[in-house]
Amino acid sequence: MHADHIIVDVNIATMEPQGDDLYGVIEQGAVVMGEGVIQWLGPMSELPELDLLSIPVTSAKGAWVTPGLIDCHTHLVFAGNRAREFERRLQGESYQAIAEQGGGIATTVSATRAAEPEQLYVSAKQRLDALYAEGVTTVETKSGYGLNLAAELKLLEVAKLLDSHHPVSIQSTFLGAHALPKEYQGDSDGYIDLVCEQMLPEVAAKKLASAVDVFCEHVGFSHAQTERVLKAAQDLGFKLKLHAEQLSNMGGTALAAKYQALSSDHLEYLDEQGVKAMAQSGMVAVLLPGAFYYLRESQYPPIELLHRYNVPIAIATDFNPGTSPLCSLQLMMNMACTLFRLTPAQALQGVTCHAARALGLADRGTLAPGQRADVALWDIEHPAQLSYEFGTKPLKQLWIQGVLSKT
Ligand code: NIG
Ligand code: FE
Repeated sequence: MHADHIIVDVNIATMEPQGDDLYGVIEQGAVVMGEGVIQWLGPMSELPELDLLSIPVTSAKGAWVTPGLIDCHTHLVFAGNRAREFERRLQGESYQAIAEQGGGIATTVSATRAAEPEQLYVSAKQRLDALYAEGVTTVETKSGYGLNLAAELKLLEVAKLLDSHHPVSIQSTFLGAHALPKEYQGDSDGYIDLVCEQMLPEVAAKKLASAVDVFCEHVGFSHAQTERVLKAAQDLGFKLKLHAEQLSNMGGTALAAKYQALSSDHLEYLDEQGVKAMAQSGMVAVLLPGAFYYLRESQYPPIELLHRYNVPIAIATDFNPGTSPLCSLQLMMNMACTLFRLTPAQALQGVTCHAARALGLADRGTLAPGQRADVALWDIEHPAQLSYEFGTKPLKQLWIQGVLSKT
């Protein structure tokens, strides 16, 4: 066994369920990391013989490790902010009404098109640093505030730069079909032609995204337009995701299931048909409590149905300037419990194993031999504390692919 680092005297939440124990707890354990992956983990009493004098050892003194956290739905790269729109919404105007009057996403698109890549990089890095400081080791981020070929590529290039310069692993998603740009007013099919015929092939050729997403909504794109994008993306080998049933039920989730999408995200207006479709095709439901809270939504996602049909639930920040300017995955875990009534164990699954599955990543999200050594060490007495407290900075140390990132 090749060992680079060992953590001893540690309680391990493997996130591989053992019966009723969703945390998959190993008490008084040890974790051996080497060559970027977990080489061994188990109870201290079974630790294989290793030359402990030549290998760095961290004694956790009874603290806990979990897999590094995964934020599986964000929009990190954009310019400007929508604080003035926030004020308007507090006066009673709705998100949809503001969007229909040319505000909303369009405001961010204007600012983002005008921004230099350096400026986009600096602001996105600040957001990424905030997630990282909380123990997040993988972040999905979407384009979608460019809405023309050059600007969409600019956003994806910034995400690629972040991936190569920042320890956090970045997963890029192309969301060209996020909103209708003003130059295509009255010709949404023409814009979908552009997305399918020019943008998607270019993004595929430049390998700038691994997944494709669409905003299937009255203020976004229709069922038929969504299907065109999903089909074209699937033909090019992209993984698929969908913003669906956020403001109304357009049957987007069932459509996503038909195309074997990894996940459908938001889901406040999802009905039982849609939940069944998700269960049958093995999709993950990505719930975004930040957007629910920030929009003061009163329609709850169908949590009980999702549980009844055993649909895995992931939790993400949806960090974006319009519906969730909340850059904390731990806050989302707390909100998943307080607003959506998940248990703290389900919330932790939502930002580890289920989030990995929502991204189609089998190499992370659990602690097991052979998995990426993305390991967060927490100064807590029980993993439920990660959902219970907020703002107390419980992260002690963080390894990403076995490299110690934070102390
Ligand atoms: O995930 N729903 C669509 N997209 C974002 C909001 C984008 C915006 O308002 O800027 C979301 O909520
Ligand atoms: Fe989103």
